[in-house]
Amino acid sequence: MPEKKAYSQAASTGKYDKSTGLTGKYDNVRRFWEDQVSGMFLRPSLNELVEQKRQRLKRIRILDLGCGSGDGYDLITGVTTKDPGIYEHITAALTPDMIKEYVGVDINQDLLKQAMAYYGHIPKVQFIRDDISDGLPASIMAEEPFDVYFTSFGTLSHLDHLQTVKLITDIWRHAPDRALFVGDWLGRYSYEWQDLWHQPVDKEYFMDYRISYIYPEEERDKAEVAVFPLRLVTRDEIVGMIEEAEKASSIKIKPVSFFDRSILIGRHMDTGDYNKNCPKMRGAVNSLFEGYVRTDLESLLVDYVPMPGFDHLNNFFEMFFMSSNALVKHTINLLSQYDSEAGVLDGVTDPLPFYPDSLKEAMNSMRRVIQGVGWLKWGDVRANVIEPQLGYCLRKLELDLQPRQGMGHGLVGIFEIQK
Ligand SMILES: C[S@@+](CC[C@H](N)C(=O)[O-])C[C@H]1O[C@@H](n2cnc3c(N)ncnc32)[C@H](O)[C@@H]1O
Repeated sequence: MPEKKAYSQAASTGKYDKSTGLTGKYDNVRRFWEDQVSGMFLRPSLNELVEQKRQRLKRIRILDLGCGSGDGYDLITGVTTKDPGIYEHITAALTPDMIKEYVGVDINQDLLKQAMAYYGHIPKVQFIRDDISDGLPASIMAEEPFDVYFTSFGTLSHLDHLQTVKLITDIWRHAPDRALFVGDWLGRYSYEWQDLWHQPVDKEYFMDYRISYIYPEEERDKAEVAVFPLRLVTRDEIVGMIEEAEKASSIKIKPVSFFDRSILIGRHMDTGDYNKNCPKMRGAVNSLFEGYVRTDLESLLVDYVPMPGFDHLNNFFEMFFMSSNALVKHTINLLSQYDSEAGVLDGVTDPLPFYPDSLKEAMNSMRRVIQGVGWLKWGDVRANVIEPQLGYCLRKLELDLQPRQGMGHGLVGIFEIQK
């Protein structure tokens, strides 16, 4: 029976799997928060690079180190030229015609197989199986220079200090006169691994990283969770490695920006593996972004537990979580005071004058969103419009309040190589 074969094929190839942004590697937080934030920071340098190449009638070559399933391709081509006005069509900073080649390198054959399945049909995409722990491998050294040397989502945390300095030195030497380097590590002082904060900061430290979050909560205890070492870094540790690579190569590097990614919603907030006091923020924020799913907004409130002896971290996290809590409580209050029949909002207090400006802006934005769309009757306006906007306001708050020192799940540095 041809129908039976067709349905069986669809089921066995995963094409009939239920798609949800609530869990998995490509959950809503990864797509709508983490990838987007990385893109926002990358935007100015990428725009400049593309313009410069265009003027010289040249195109861009990208090297994605530790590319996994080729994730850097979508991330980089998803960066937009600017925040578009409401009537504008969004344009990519790097359109496919401006890419000369994208080369992904990874040590893991299974991930590369997946990368080939996703991107193998694009003629200018190439994947190479190789090891980056001894510097740039010979297979890459033999390639023409690249314009972007890219890593994402903690890849450089697989390497120790000396291996990283060697890799960066090789990149500096291999690069053309002008290029970008994006280095992505795990941050040392994320709240999700507060149990590890006491490790001496003057020594490099590798945590035993458990990918427990890929299992549903009820299976985590029984599952055979893989554990491997990943290095946690501060911004000072990154700067130290960059300076050593500068000395070794005699090439000047300009830091463009650093950012903490996922202070509020690191993947281990939900497992509690390294801090049992963490609330399950990632699940809650995934739910904010999911269509037709209403979120219990109380589940977004963080009851921060300070760690004695770490005043500067406690002061930052107190301020940070009190601000996100204030935004969430304000939204709960707005929703409770909104009369959707009359389309009127009554009796809600304004943000207090001494709140940080970004918190005031976020609170005012939520007020205007609820006032503007709360009356809509079709579709679930709370789940489909108001909750995602709360997600974006929380994201903006994280962008504005972060210290860029390693207080998030990820710590990323963008650098310009100028010879
Ligand atoms: C945290 S994952 C990031 C994957 C991908 N870039 C992403 O954005 O999701 C780290 C990647 O680095 C790869 N990796 C780890 N050690 C490596 C090595 N010595 N040489 C090459 N790749 C390595 C792993 O196989 C994995 O795909």
